[in-house]
Amino acid sequence: MDAIRTEHDPRYANIAEHLAAAGWCVHDEFLDGELTQRLARECRLLWQQGEMRRAAVGKGDDARIRDQVRRDLVRWVDPTTPTLGQHGWLHHLEQLRLALNRMLYLGLFEYEGHLAVYPAGAFYRRHLDRFQGSAERRISVVFYLNDAWTDDDGGQLRIYLDGDQATPFVDIAPVAGRLVTFVSDRFEHEVLAAKRPRMSLTGWYRTRPSGPGAILPERSA
Ligand code: OGA
Ligand code: MN
Repeated sequence: MDAIRTEHDPRYANIAEHLAAAGWCVHDEFLDGELTQRLARECRLLWQQGEMRRAAVGKGDDARIRDQVRRDLVRWVDPTTPTLGQHGWLHHLEQLRLALNRMLYLGLFEYEGHLAVYPAGAFYRRHLDRFQGSAERRISVVFYLNDAWTDDDGGQLRIYLDGDQATPFVDIAPVAGRLVTFVSDRFEHEVLAAKRPRMSLTGWYRTRPSGPGAILPERSA
């Protein structure tokens, strides 16, 4: 029954279409409000309880370099011990993974992700996601948890559109329920500093090295 519903789920078709055409997609109200709010509550609680750690920038992490690059706090989602909210989240991410594989032949075999909190003033400088792990990160997936976010709060995700002279970048506000996906090795991006704490679930679908040929536009710059 689930498979039949998934086949016709307009969310997945919309995301696949945009990824195939442009390499990135902004999809609002990806989850229902109840699940989004639960995830936000869980994230805030973990942060308040001191259960989140400063994110690293690479092997042999140097704190001074890290502070210049990124200031967010993260906690990896452990699929073997998910909270109630995370359980729901992982279910939807699995359905999306299967749908993208079916529609775009991406050969995505796994999702890995973490909760992230950017305290007021925190940022993540311009970077590319692809080469941060040993495994192949193919599609970046960011889901936002921030109610009543206004442009004045800052904290936009700025995606640099390679090769586009007229529109060098897009700024995307981290509003609750919004899912942003993009081809990991194609778009440099950054997180602008926010005036209030900014919460998200950030992760990646991975492929095996030299996976199958996929239907996606190539990097042009
Ligand atoms: C990242 C990242 C974007 C965002 O964690 O690698 O780029 O909007 N996050 O939180
Ligand atoms: Mn990133």
